[in-house]
Amino acid sequence: MNSQPDIGDHMGEVREDFVSASDYCSKEFAEWENERLWPRVWQMACREEDVPEVGDFYTYDIVDDSIIIIRSAPGEIKAFHNACAHRGRQLTEGCGHASKLQCPFHGWQFGFDGKPLHVVDREDWGDKLRDEDISLIPVKVGIWGGWVYINMDLDCESLDDFLAPAKAILDPLDMSGLRYHWVKSAIVPSNWKTVLGLFNEAYHLQQAHSQVLRFQDDVTESHVHGRHGMFESWDALPPGIRSQRLGPPLEQDIRQSLHEYVMEYYETLQCAHPITMVDAVDRMMEEVPEGTPAEEVMAKVMQFTFEDAAGRGVEIPPITPEEMHAVGSDWHLFANQILLPGPLTCLAYRARPNGHDPDSAIFDVYSLLRYPPGQEPNVEPERCDDLTDISFWPLILIQDFENLAALQRGLKSRGFRGARTNPKQESAVSNFHRALRDFMRG
Ligand code: FES
Ligand SMILES: [Fe+2]
Repeated sequence: MNSQPDIGDHMGEVREDFVSASDYCSKEFAEWENERLWPRVWQMACREEDVPEVGDFYTYDIVDDSIIIIRSAPGEIKAFHNACAHRGRQLTEGCGHASKLQCPFHGWQFGFDGKPLHVVDREDWGDKLRDEDISLIPVKVGIWGGWVYINMDLDCESLDDFLAPAKAILDPLDMSGLRYHWVKSAIVPSNWKTVLGLFNEAYHLQQAHSQVLRFQDDVTESHVHGRHGMFESWDALPPGIRSQRLGPPLEQDIRQSLHEYVMEYYETLQCAHPITMVDAVDRMMEEVPEGTPAEEVMAKVMQFTFEDAAGRGVEIPPITPEEMHAVGSDWHLFANQILLPGPLTCLAYRARPNGHDPDSAIFDVYSLLRYPPGQEPNVEPERCDDLTDISFWPLILIQDFENLAALQRGLKSRGFRGARTNPKQESAVSNFHRALRDFMRG
């Protein structure tokens, strides 16, 4: 299927202020993705730390395909289609460690290079079984910033070229030094693009997370970088000062409010970023005098945060303030990954279809942190499909999830023609849909 399917009145219509409803809901669009997106696109599959030792494997499932990602040598990761060359049984499920890939059905064995090591009763085939015909089918692997990407299209462009516009800005963060702090997953009741769309704009903060406006300016602007998109808050007031929506900034000493801001995110998002700042804001309350201008208070908190990390032996990448400024807040890397990166931490999201159902997605959240060498924890990924479970999910994510099922229902309404995306604050959303259609047509 190379051409675009018939998907209704607004077939193919994506503008910076409009995204056709059919993109989110129709089975035809999902099948178009299954034919033209997933088999051809670079997609984040896991991190290097998921397969640290030779023989460690990670199984990445995407619609009907399943890919084995395996550490084949100390400095090498390979990937193969997860189907035995004998009668097709999947060779791996989930994560694990193996000395060879052995099929549980009839016991054929494959090496980490995909070549057959042993075929039970091979002589029964006479000279009909050539190694090259029964080797596992390779899948391309690319690694960037510790993230492992796969591409089933062996003729695809390089991962570096694919990521280029985003990579140029994000490289100084050296994400390869990050390790899992926690990993949480769920099956969510929405299209994979709907759930990603909760996290590539901040326009919803003023409604869905209004509790943060008392000490956070939510002004953001979004920008397009090829297929990728991002938003930044370069025009926002420093954290600790209330949103411009609530009126002019209060003349103030922001120390108390900045302390509350960090503690609020510490409790309601529970990701690594506020955790690295807790000691720094305590120290700020003790050492920074009353009446210090907001920018200076912020600079002191950043200085204390880095001093605290360096004091614990954390290796901090040599990123300049200008490079950090350029990174902004939030990046959507086409197609399945969102990053909120910093020099010490990253919050990341991944979404993909849950089989062929356009109303269901597999969603993963990653909190990453830069640890002192040798002190990285062993993190077990956790899963909870109850999106209201406050003992598992941070409050901010529950607030996001509250929109999800109702959003997917509304998107399917006969009365809904398409999303009127904000051209200033949501161009990362509309650009994603434009890039998706362009990619699938290409
Ligand atoms: S299907 Fe794998 S050995 Fe038979
Ligand atoms: Fe949100």
